[in-house]
Amino acid sequence: MGTDSKVAIITGASQGIGEGLVRGYLARGYRVVANSRSIRPDAYEGDTLAVAGDITDPAVAERVVGVAVEKFGRVDTLVNNAGVFVPAPFTEYTEDDYARVVSLNLGGFFHVTQRAIKHMLARGGGGHVVNLTTTLVGQPVKGVPSALTSLTKGGLDAVTRSLAIEYADRGIRVNAVAPGNIRTPMHPPETLAALAAMHPLGRMGEVSEIVEAVLYLESAGFVTGETLHVDGGAHAGRW
Ligand SMILES: NC(=O)c1ccc[n+]([C@@H]2O[C@H](COP(=O)([O-])OP(=O)(O)OC[C@H]3O[C@@H](n4cnc5c(N)ncnc54)[C@H](OP(=O)(O)O)[C@@H]3O)[C@@H](O)[C@H]2O)c1
Repeated sequence: MGTDSKVAIITGASQGIGEGLVRGYLARGYRVVANSRSIRPDAYEGDTLAVAGDITDPAVAERVVGVAVEKFGRVDTLVNNAGVFVPAPFTEYTEDDYARVVSLNLGGFFHVTQRAIKHMLARGGGGHVVNLTTTLVGQPVKGVPSALTSLTKGGLDAVTRSLAIEYADRGIRVNAVAPGNIRTPMHPPETLAALAAMHPLGRMGEVSEIVEAVLYLESAGFVTGETLHVDGGAHAGRW
């Protein structure tokens, strides 16, 4: 295991986009700390460490960053990928829905990002944070009511620009990727046709297309505070 290669932390890494991101960063020569609640120690081969735990818990966030620093010596990139989607009419959301969505989509970002940036600053600056938002933030859809998504992923979208400005002079870039509907286990098979029709390009997106976008941002040294839409054109308007 090399000791000078870069290190990426990826949350929500047991399946879907997170799994694609782990493989994408490994293929780029990064060492990867992969977190999810159920991730197995042997989930990935190669330069990876799996840290199981609920990323909404500050102690888990501490452990994730701590393991990266102790075992790999550094944190270069954090991808805040763990997230949950609970569509419902606004008045039908329960207290449990509210607590679950806020704690993961916001708390799951806050605790680990704070710790990762602290480490980046302590190392002398430099680093990259990528947040997974959704195209629904800028382009809500009448047939998919999901105010809790707007509330939380909209916060992530805003804080992407806020942290980009706060830390640009320390060499830390902060970007976001806003996916449309991507074919992952998040979506039951019977919904796929309807989800495909929600994009001007007329199909769902693939995990590899989100991974490409995140890796583009990784190498785009002059890009920060950007939300890159990977949504088949859905953010561009009505069609
Ligand atoms: N797929 C889409 O169409 C789509 C569209 C727009 C935005 N996004 C965003 O993209 C991201 C990834 O989506 P996806 O479709 O790949 O999701 P997914 O298939 O549902 O996977 C979610 C991942 O997050 C982990 N996770 C859930 N709760 C967690 C917690 N409390 N702590 C740590 N890990 C947790 C899950 O593993 P465990 O169960 O082991 O914890 C799993 O690895 C999310 O932020 C989502 O909002 C997705």
